Amino acid sequence: MEIRILSFEEIDALGISVTEVMDVVEKGFRLKGEGKVELPAKIGIHPRKDCFIHAMPCFVGADADVAGIKWVSGYPPNQAKGLPYINGIMCLNEAETGIVKSIMDANWITAWRTGAATGVCARHMADPDAGTLAVIGLGVQGRTNTVAVAKALPGLSVVKAYDAYTQQLEKYKSLIEKDLPGINVLPCRSVQEAVDGADVVVTCTPIVADPERFVKSDWLKKDCLAIAVDYDSAFDAEVMSKAEAFVCDDKNQYLWTQEQGAYFQKGYPGKEDILGDMGDLCAGKVSSPRKGRRGAVLMGIASHDVLTADLVYRKAIEKGVGKVVQI
Ligand SMILES: NC(=O)c1ccc[n+]([C@@H]2O[C@H](COP(=O)([O-])OP(=O)(O)OC[C@H]3O[C@@H](n4cnc5c(N)ncnc54)[C@H](O)[C@@H]3O)[C@@H](O)[C@H]2O)c1
Repeated sequence: MEIRILSFEEIDALGISVTEVMDVVEKGFRLKGEGKVELPAKIGIHPRKDCFIHAMPCFVGADADVAGIKWVSGYPPNQAKGLPYINGIMCLNEAETGIVKSIMDANWITAWRTGAATGVCARHMADPDAGTLAVIGLGVQGRTNTVAVAKALPGLSVVKAYDAYTQQLEKYKSLIEKDLPGINVLPCRSVQEAVDGADVVVTCTPIVADPERFVKSDWLKKDCLAIAVDYDSAFDAEVMSKAEAFVCDDKNQYLWTQEQGAYFQKGYPGKEDILGDMGDLCAGKVSSPRKGRRGAVLMGIASHDVLTADLVYRKAIEKGVGKVVQI
């Protein structure tokens, strides 16, 4: 096999914009809604408390015709060791022959495709005039989710930011000021202060086995879109269960995970409470209100990964980037 190897630095230097990633992620949602995506719920192992390593295979059919798998870990204790929380590799296969054509870093892909999925959710569920975003958890995802939501909502002018560790806040503020000139980042001293008055709230904190769910429902304004990137760790169950519209990124994966008993227990919405998933929304099968309480749980799905990896691969070929090895 001839395999193109791509590092984080090589992918980062390709100059792919978050809008390009949002477009492929949205296409994946649409094709999933049209039944053209094979997407088993992610399976995982848990070598340490609160830590996971997930396997995420996917085939996206139609004109995309891409296949692959991500092998990705999430380790909250890595922060104290100065290591990234998320680490992984992505393997891209030729859909026609099954032959592996590329192995690439999955950290860049995970960072940006996750932000992009939130941006696509904002495209379909946020009030188009939303001006204030609150972000809780200001690491890798805090940054990419902010950038994507700002691209989806051009009227956004203020980001209220909170992290349990103040040094994260300073790093985030300086990155966002570079990424999004003109956006005013307001550092907040508590979760309640951050979410107060926000039109959109995104939580990007570690996923834990015994969640505190520290974002309380009655702290949010009436017209608010709440998006969880961190499973059920941050939002109180009522934020989602009392929403006028509750969506997830993939019903099958959400319900399967809930059935396993580890996440989305104690009041999180069940099968009957789901308006639809992002596939249904993007395929035009259901639509969400733009006002009132709206909730979304975006666990991350493998169609984002294979389609973003395919985008990366095509750009890398175009620019002659990466090392081709025979194995
Ligand atoms: N849904 C998806 O598709 C998807 C994809 C990738 C990562 N994630 C999840 O996103 C979350 C963030 O990942 P990351 O790569 O940005 O990690 P990160 O370590 O870079 O950032 C996490 C941030 O949360 C902060 N934090 C920790 N506890 C907090 C608390 N109680 N209140 C406020 N802030 C707190 C940390 O200080 C850190 O800044 C993780 O749960 C990860 O599993 C989800």
